[in-house]
Amino acid sequence: MEHSFYAGRVAVVTGAGAGIGRELAVRLAGAGGSLGLVDVDGERLAETVEELQGRGAKVVGVVADAADVERMGEVADEVVGRLGGVDVLINNAGRLFYGGVLESGPGDFDAVMRANFGATVVTTKAFLPYVVKSPQGRIANLSSAYGLIGLAGAAPYTAAKFAVRGFTESLRSELRGQPNVAVSCVFPGGVKTGIAWSALAAAGVDADRAAERFDRHVARTDPGAAARVILRGIERGQSRVLIGPDAILAEVAARVAGGQYERLIRLVVRG
Ligand SMILES: NC(=O)c1ccc[n+]([C@@H]2O[C@H](COP(=O)([O-])OP(=O)(O)OC[C@H]3O[C@@H](n4cnc5c(N)ncnc54)[C@H](O)[C@@H]3O)[C@@H](O)[C@H]2O)c1
Repeated sequence: MEHSFYAGRVAVVTGAGAGIGRELAVRLAGAGGSLGLVDVDGERLAETVEELQGRGAKVVGVVADAADVERMGEVADEVVGRLGGVDVLINNAGRLFYGGVLESGPGDFDAVMRANFGATVVTTKAFLPYVVKSPQGRIANLSSAYGLIGLAGAAPYTAAKFAVRGFTESLRSELRGQPNVAVSCVFPGGVKTGIAWSALAAAGVDADRAAERFDRHVARTDPGAAARVILRGIERGQSRVLIGPDAILAEVAARVAGGQYERLIRLVVRG
């Protein structure tokens, strides 16, 4: 069976009400895992939870902001109290942001850092004491192709996703003495979810226009396919999981061209 690694294990997924997080939850439940699902959007979370419970999965759904320190402590207590422990933590919750350095104020940088980096740090700190006790623990954090390269028009989001990557790589190094735990950083290119439309934006940026452009030109990979690659990477304990040809291009360009990667990407994209 696909993803049999997850059978009988407990997995926590943040941002499980929609998009990639929802697809991860569906596949984890299908593989026979028990689930702790977290989302700030109660309605969407309830839809995911009801659907999976209807298929017989053991699911605990908790409405919470993954960046809220106090609340995530309570969430960890509740999930562990009801499911007995945590083997797999997937820090998936995040928000896209439209705006570059010039348009974005300090408050924009704070908000985007909190939504992406803060949520990852807070949730990891809440669940890490349990994951390290698992015989085969896994932590996976969702960065982005924007965590591999920096391009114009997305400085706050890029900074936040580079921060997620730095945090993840440091955590992996810190856990070297715990061979039972593997830490993965996931770098999706554009994935066809609703993220384009729920994005934050700097004042003066036309968010609808930016969303249409993102949806049409960037978001190409199917979220179900993305979830499959992520779960396979996590079970193998892969350090880096690249999703889609655009993420692979970003990775290769950064490695091959060093500081000149932007020129290389423009050449490839223009054909
Ligand atoms: N879709 C893409 O093109 C793409 C590309 C690269 C990286 N990513 C990353 O993948 C992850 C998932 O993206 P997606 O496309 O599925 O997004 P999405 O907008 O479709 O779904 C995200 C879900 O997370 C929830 N959420 C957001 N902030 C939260 C918080 N603080 N606490 C709890 N729940 C929260 C939302 O309510 C939503 O249900 C994000 O971290 C995103 O940055 C997405």
